[in-house]
Amino acid sequence: MMDAQEIIQAESAYVLQTYVRPEIVFSRGDGAYLYDSSGKKYLDFTSGIAVTALGHSDPQWVTAVSDQAGKLVHVSNLYHTAPHAELARRLVDFSFADKVYFCNSGAEANEAAIKFARKVAQQSAPQKSQIVAFTGGFHGRTMGALAATYKAQYRDPFAPLMPGVSFAPYNDLDAAAEVIRDETCAVIVEPIQGEGGVNPAKSEFLQGVRLLCDEHQALLIFDEVQCGLGRTGTLWAHESYNVTPDIMTLAKPLAGGLPIGATLVTQAVADVIKPGDHGSTFAAGPLVCRAAEVVFDRVSQPHFLAQVRENGKYLRHRLRTLEQEAIVEVRGAGFLVGVEMQAAVAPLIVTAREKGLLVINAGEKVLRLAPPLIAGRAELDQAIDIIDESLHAQADVT
Ligand SMILES: Cc1ncc(COP(=O)(O)O)c(C=O)c1O
Repeated sequence: MMDAQEIIQAESAYVLQTYVRPEIVFSRGDGAYLYDSSGKKYLDFTSGIAVTALGHSDPQWVTAVSDQAGKLVHVSNLYHTAPHAELARRLVDFSFADKVYFCNSGAEANEAAIKFARKVAQQSAPQKSQIVAFTGGFHGRTMGALAATYKAQYRDPFAPLMPGVSFAPYNDLDAAAEVIRDETCAVIVEPIQGEGGVNPAKSEFLQGVRLLCDEHQALLIFDEVQCGLGRTGTLWAHESYNVTPDIMTLAKPLAGGLPIGATLVTQAVADVIKPGDHGSTFAAGPLVCRAAEVVFDRVSQPHFLAQVRENGKYLRHRLRTLEQEAIVEVRGAGFLVGVEMQAAVAPLIVTAREKGLLVINAGEKVLRLAPPLIAGRAELDQAIDIIDESLHAQADVT
């Protein structure tokens, strides 16, 4: 058994270094808390980047996963299994969609969305292939999803990317009207941008984009990989906008920490997609679907969602009333909260971690809080106290 230092050394020796990790080895989790190899306890307000909605080691989730692991884990998509059917039925019953395609991640869900949109458009006009995405948008690291992701740092080293993507400024409807044309086959947008800085779309913007899509017969894709499934206090982030997409992508929290993605589509899209058009060996096996059933049944309950809304409001209110000059703005919805700061947040994240709170950034100057959806007032108060103390400690240093 390796000790913490040996683990860190082995990871740097053998793992391709696409991430920079702090010198901490986590060994277990319980609810909103993680414990490192020395036994130190951390309040986890990253939730594995908006994934562990029920917290760590939720007893109901553990029981379902253990039971399913003992019965059946994988048969591939060549065969039927009950958890697959159960999960698909839930997603369709609770959304605008008529059919769901399963995959293994957010990027893959967006790849599928792009492929489906391209095929739909090809039926009417071969040249109708343009995808419109937005400044600040993040849709994943695979070549298609990356082509629709805005940040140059992620894109530039891998050129040439998938052709046919144009960007319009987020939340600028007039500018979007200039870019969305008859050649547009789909518009992909996050109702609340996560990685891009926790930026909620304006209602007029999303509603206007919907109308532009209708005018030009383009499909509207909502990427709810980060903001969907209860994170904003409604099951779908787009609910509060009164706008319905043609396609919606999901991933992160859906199976509570096991890898899954989903692309939800209307019947009009489904009609065009035929056997063999797309697929995945691993997608939506019985284990991951059984886990997702547990997550979905909890996060879709009205009282669960009401609690996320209320607690999210409380969290933003407390952050707004902190007497901290470093804070420029607190924004977001439910438990997707961004705190824009005057300066880069990297040092603040380190200080908070030392004090036992895990948080992440969303861009250089935005601190992102993505607590597990089960976090209660005591955990929120603890996080706010640590952020307050950390900001004071920063102010003392500068
Ligand atoms: C909005 C959004 N879309 C897509 C992705 C990509 O998801 P994954 O990392 O599972 O491929 C992310 C990941 O952060 C995301 O926030």
